[in-house]
Amino acid sequence: MREPMTRKLAPFGVSVFTEFTRLALEHQAINLAQGFPDFDGPDAIKEFACERIRRGHNQYAPSHGVAALRRAIAAKVQRCYGLEVDAEDEVTVYAGATEAIFSSLAGLIEPGDEVILFEPAYDSYAPSTVMAGGTPRYVTLRFPDFAVDEDELRAAFSPRTKAIVLNTPMNPCGKVFSRAELSLIAELCQQFDCFAVTDEVYEHLTFDGASHLPLIALPGMRQRTVMISSTAKTFSMTGWKVGYSVAGPRLTAASRSSHQFVTFCTPPPLQEAMAFAMGLGDEYFSGLRQSYAERRALLLERLAAIGFDVRPPAGTYYVAAGIGPLGFDDDYAFCRGLPALAGVSMIPFSAFYRDRHAGRDVVRVAFCKSGPLLEEACVRLGRLPRRS
Ligand SMILES: Cc1ncc(COP(=O)(O)O)c(C=O)c1O
Repeated sequence: MREPMTRKLAPFGVSVFTEFTRLALEHQAINLAQGFPDFDGPDAIKEFACERIRRGHNQYAPSHGVAALRRAIAAKVQRCYGLEVDAEDEVTVYAGATEAIFSSLAGLIEPGDEVILFEPAYDSYAPSTVMAGGTPRYVTLRFPDFAVDEDELRAAFSPRTKAIVLNTPMNPCGKVFSRAELSLIAELCQQFDCFAVTDEVYEHLTFDGASHLPLIALPGMRQRTVMISSTAKTFSMTGWKVGYSVAGPRLTAASRSSHQFVTFCTPPPLQEAMAFAMGLGDEYFSGLRQSYAERRALLLERLAAIGFDVRPPAGTYYVAAGIGPLGFDDDYAFCRGLPALAGVSMIPFSAFYRDRHAGRDVVRVAFCKSGPLLEEACVRLGRLPRRS
């Protein structure tokens, strides 16, 4: 029989999150591996969705999203970043940021086009690029500071570059790109006449005075950027998969050209509930940031006391933790053994690099968990036998 799986997808195997969440379940370990909260967003959002289901909002929505949500997104983007956007022609709703990224790349990329990816990279970027017919071109950022090497970035751009994918705040390393780094990316996009697809799902999770700056707001980038975000992390409803993009009309048309044939639309009651959520006001967003700042402080303090090499992440809800000081040098072996050994699971950092040697003595620890669960995880980790 012929091989059913295409050669382009076979190398990607099973997502690292599937593997380590399965392992956590097997050992009933505390799952600090996959990035979903162990708490839900506000009850009022859930009630809103239930009420819309009962009222009969259960048939297909317009492919680009229900009007109330698109208007709420336009208002939020204006409130947070001072961007004026047209809710009809510049805002699109998808089945999560993941689908927004795939649909945007599928609408933009021709066979042979190159797409620049920063690594460590969120796991969907490379397969989405390849499924869209493009070739990933990597720029590597390294533990512990994950600084952008200007020469390496410049060298990655060429006339073959059609797009760059930028994730800020960045999973898994917690980096928030600075204005200078964003300006360099903007300059190169304009010099090489290419587009940026930005994944900003952690836009509201920044700490210690770091602030999120969307690339689309930089001079010359308004018509070159597909700004993507999601309600998943902001409203602690990762399973709802309501994501969106903001982009100029021509770029929006490119993304919608594929989106209409990928999912067509996202469940309308969930979209309407997220329209309500977007209007929750500043207290909600500052409360979210504050509660994550507390979880982050707790995890950083405990991991450092146990002996992990930790640096405070400027954004996201992940900590990159070096395991070298504990006497370990193989992140996969460490993470595969950890659920049985300590009852906790984490993600090996090298999974986010193409060359698995990078990040081999680092793990990603998620702190999107309630305080007592994080405390218990740290107590368990404290019992970990040291190798050195
Ligand atoms: C960088 C990044 N992008 C996208 C997503 C997924 O977003 P969504 O659930 O809206 O597809 C995640 C989830 O972990 C993420 O970390």
